[in-house]
Amino acid sequence: MAYALLKTAHLLAVVVWLGGMFFTHFCLRPAAMTLPPPQRVPLMAIALGRFFQAVAVSIGLILVSGGWMLWRVVVTTKQTGGPFNMPLEWHVMVVLGVAMMLIFGHIRFALYKRLRRAVAAQDWPAGGEALASIRGWVAINLTIGAVIVLVVLMGTAN
Ligand code: HEM
Repeated sequence: MAYALLKTAHLLAVVVWLGGMFFTHFCLRPAAMTLPPPQRVPLMAIALGRFFQAVAVSIGLILVSGGWMLWRVVVTTKQTGGPFNMPLEWHVMVVLGVAMMLIFGHIRFALYKRLRRAVAAQDWPAGGEALASIRGWVAINLTIGAVIVLVVLMGTAN
């Protein structure tokens, strides 16, 4: 029961993060591109600011639930006397998951800061550049996230 709850929290947080990146990349940004920069850049800055808050909460949930599940499996395996061998797809998930979090840190604390400074100065070309960098990194993180889901779910299909 507790394990099922942890896995549900883990997956909901993943859905918010990946779904939000998909929506931003494929729906919000193309729609915002129809607006002139003085409207588009502030709109994207506000929308991204709210999304990044949700991602920060999701990352906390992913780490706590994922770490907790790992710990539960290790303890249960030890109690039954067997050795703990982490499945390959779990290694992939943890390593790539941490890479996604580091990339998010770069987006949030370097690029998004640059975007907010540009909006405050009404420097639309600088804002457009910051948005273009954010877009590139979000595309990378979305790809990594999709790879993780694919690897983990294909791994459990055996
Ligand atoms: C980096 C920290 C992470 C840790 C420590 C972690 C750990 C875990 C653990 C222990 C499970 C339970 C597996 C099972 O019982 O079958 C799990 C499930 C899962 N995780 Fe993660 N995870 C992390 C990050 C991520 C990320 C970033 C994603 C996706 C972008 C992800 C996607 C999934 C999925 C789809 C499942 C469900 C697998 C299933 O139902 O069999 N995880 N995670």
